[in-house]
Amino acid sequence: MFPSINFTTTKAFQYLTDHFIKLNEKSIQDLFNEDVNRFKKFSILFEGILFDYSKNRIDDTTIALLMQLARECKLEDAISSMFNGEKINQTENRAVLHTALRNSTDSSIIVDGKNIIPEIKSVLDRMEAFSNSIILGEWKGFSGKPIDTIVNIGIGGSDLGPVMVTEALKHYKNHLKLLFVSNIDGTHIVETLKNLNPETTLFLIASKTFTTQETMTNAHSARDWFLKAGKKEDIEKHFAALSTNDEAVKEFGINLNNMFEFWDWVGGRYSLWSAIGLPIMLSIGPKNFKLLLDGAHSADKHFKNTPFEQNIPVIMALLGVWYTNFYGAETQAILPYDQYLHRFAAYFQQGDMESNGKYIDRNGNEVDYETGPIIWGEPGTNGQHAFFQLIHQGTKLIPCDFIASAISLNPIGNHHEILLSNFFAQTKALMNGKDINQVIDELKLAGKSDEEIKKIAPFKVFLGNRPTNSFLIKKIDPYSLGTIIALYEHKIFVQGIIWNIFSFDQWGVELGKELAKTIQSDLKSTEEITHHDASTNGQINQFKNWRKE
Ligand code: F6P
Repeated sequence: MFPSINFTTTKAFQYLTDHFIKLNEKSIQDLFNEDVNRFKKFSILFEGILFDYSKNRIDDTTIALLMQLARECKLEDAISSMFNGEKINQTENRAVLHTALRNSTDSSIIVDGKNIIPEIKSVLDRMEAFSNSIILGEWKGFSGKPIDTIVNIGIGGSDLGPVMVTEALKHYKNHLKLLFVSNIDGTHIVETLKNLNPETTLFLIASKTFTTQETMTNAHSARDWFLKAGKKEDIEKHFAALSTNDEAVKEFGINLNNMFEFWDWVGGRYSLWSAIGLPIMLSIGPKNFKLLLDGAHSADKHFKNTPFEQNIPVIMALLGVWYTNFYGAETQAILPYDQYLHRFAAYFQQGDMESNGKYIDRNGNEVDYETGPIIWGEPGTNGQHAFFQLIHQGTKLIPCDFIASAISLNPIGNHHEILLSNFFAQTKALMNGKDINQVIDELKLAGKSDEEIKKIAPFKVFLGNRPTNSFLIKKIDPYSLGTIIALYEHKIFVQGIIWNIFSFDQWGVELGKELAKTIQSDLKSTEEITHHDASTNGQINQFKNWRKE
């Protein structure tokens, strides 16, 4: 197992601290002026993805020192430990092997003395056979009609990945109607089930633990709805489970032949590659699903085998550390200029924030440095008309990832050229800004008086020097999508290693869940509630009063 190192005590960190002060005197624009090879040096072409990180506040020294930091933190050992199946999720005593799910080679990976590859293949084969029978209409509902609607019931990692990927790959989808229910708010399931035909609807109950309250409550409501039309023995034709918990699946009444298994070494937010991906396979077919896995596997190989200086996730991660720990950036925006990727940022909100939102280091001590950033974002160009003002002229430094595809899947008129010209223009504008002289010249040209210019000019100045990464993908397809998702996953892993935290547990979500259970009984009682703090008591009692009326 790799050691636990406080990165702020490394030599590289001290050098970076000095280097930061010097580099801060220069703008990104200055750095471009100084180095004609900057784009060539700070961009990588990999599997139909151009990763351009040249518009960052970095120079050769920054990169060299960041790489030294990674080496001093024993990143190489950490990568091997993860891929080899060591139990790096120490607080849950689990291996972290979502990478094994996309490894279609004949290699063996041993967990607890057992090669896990045959099991992975066997579940994948069963998913394929099941998906084909549904897609081809061979699987019949209780009245003999083929299935035409799939409802996935899950939350968090058992929802966000399949939602994001099925949206991203809508272009490749078949005739099946795919719906997702996640929220415990009854509105979600009621609105989803409206107008559905139980004879032709298949429910996928997606839950790693099969105990998550939201999912199980929604699953029971779905079953009640179904049983108004079908009989108990028809459930096996209309319910399947994606889970690690066969006991609970059986108890719910789902035939184990309809259970698609995965394992505790698959983290919830890294599970779209497992049986949790069944809705994806149903939507785009097994062949495309396998291409998604292959794309991710290519990113795995790149991450595992490429020297850090050319390693995309390592570079992405270290740039994030640079901005978080030296520039004090608190958030990072992910901005896909692609409507198909409209859930990409939402997906990585869980991926990143549930992984690296931790304040205790791997030794059990409180950290004295910043860890995981706040991840947010919306597709462009919509974001330009909403929050870009703050990115351009606000007081906060927000490093942004811009993502776009070169080839549109829906070429119509000049839409794509307009979209992409905005994509290119934004990172340029964020870098260059507009100085006061340019503003004055423009206002003069527009015929403004000196007095008017003096009054208005300061508001039109853009400081620029705002850092961005650009990912230009040749085309969005299952393979390229798999690749880019896996690159982002590995970025999160690297940052967890540098920050010396455990990225694969999520204890922070437990407290709220426990309290909700206690409060549930308060809501049932007719008594006035007094045992919480005054605010919580006050809200609960008002809620109960209104419900009595
Ligand atoms: O709320 C936290 C969490 O445990 C996530 O990590 C997970 O993705 C989600 O709940 C759903 O869990 P399950 O798949 O067990 O229902």
